[in-house]
Amino acid sequence: MTIAIICTDRDPEPWVAALHECDPTLDIQVWPDERKKADVEFALCWKHPEGVLRDYPNLRCVSSMGAGIDHLLKDAFFPKHLPVVRLVDPLLAQGMFEYICTAVMYYFREFDIYQAQQRQFCWQQHFPRSVTKMIVGMMGLGQLGGYSAKRLATMGFDVIGWSRSQKVIPGVKAYAGEAQLDSFLCQADILICLLPLTDQTCGILNLELFSKLPKGACLVNVARGENLVEEDLLTALADGLLRGACLDVFREEPLPAEHPFWGHEKILITPHCSSVTDPRSVAPQIVQNYRLMRGSMPLLNQVDMLRGY
Ligand code: GLV
Repeated sequence: MTIAIICTDRDPEPWVAALHECDPTLDIQVWPDERKKADVEFALCWKHPEGVLRDYPNLRCVSSMGAGIDHLLKDAFFPKHLPVVRLVDPLLAQGMFEYICTAVMYYFREFDIYQAQQRQFCWQQHFPRSVTKMIVGMMGLGQLGGYSAKRLATMGFDVIGWSRSQKVIPGVKAYAGEAQLDSFLCQADILICLLPLTDQTCGILNLELFSKLPKGACLVNVARGENLVEEDLLTALADGLLRGACLDVFREEPLPAEHPFWGHEKILITPHCSSVTDPRSVAPQIVQNYRLMRGSMPLLNQVDMLRGY
């Protein structure tokens, strides 16, 4: 009975150590060097190589090593009959809030404008508008988006949110579904994207959407690079539809050196670090799910594979 860690783009060793700290008796093997693939019942995956899961004939459950599961669904050979779980973690939500809060304050206190002034040796004060006059729009009100929206509201910002299904979050005016999207967008001075990546949300951040925001709105994308149509962002910035964009995720990561975003004065880039899963914090829920799976009990944080999150 083995747990296999199958990842690229992440060091598996801290995960092995954290899982063993929870339960030293666990048999944990790291792809591609497992002793016997037939012993593997539980796979812990991050950007696994396409088709590799077919090598485990007795696999019973797949867990993401993060909050998102889009990397699993990218695999055309993904065993769709298996239950999939994701990680839900208060530290992840706190880290995401800290990042979003920093980005919101950056635009709210006009650091982007002061940076542009600095490049021109320009000393000019602007008086910030009141937090209550700044409307922050959160697209995606799940575990991470909902938490950040609630915390931003307690800071005094006027927070609105949009999600596929109606949500109730203290201090947040929530909009839902296609029918209410435009009413949401036309108010958002700062638009934050924390939507899961699905067929419906791929490319949702496009020119048409940007043109529905208040003129000169700011964008913060902490969801997935594929949510954004990159050329449309460049057009929206050039046309003044958007004042600036803070991006943590990209269609291609690491962002290639020749990419036009790198040198763009109105784009702030961070290397997919908005919130990083700490293996020690999530190991207990992984071990618990492994035990639940072995006992054929309902799993924690199981994903609805038809919905895609
Ligand atoms: C990170 O992007 C995650 O899905 O946890």
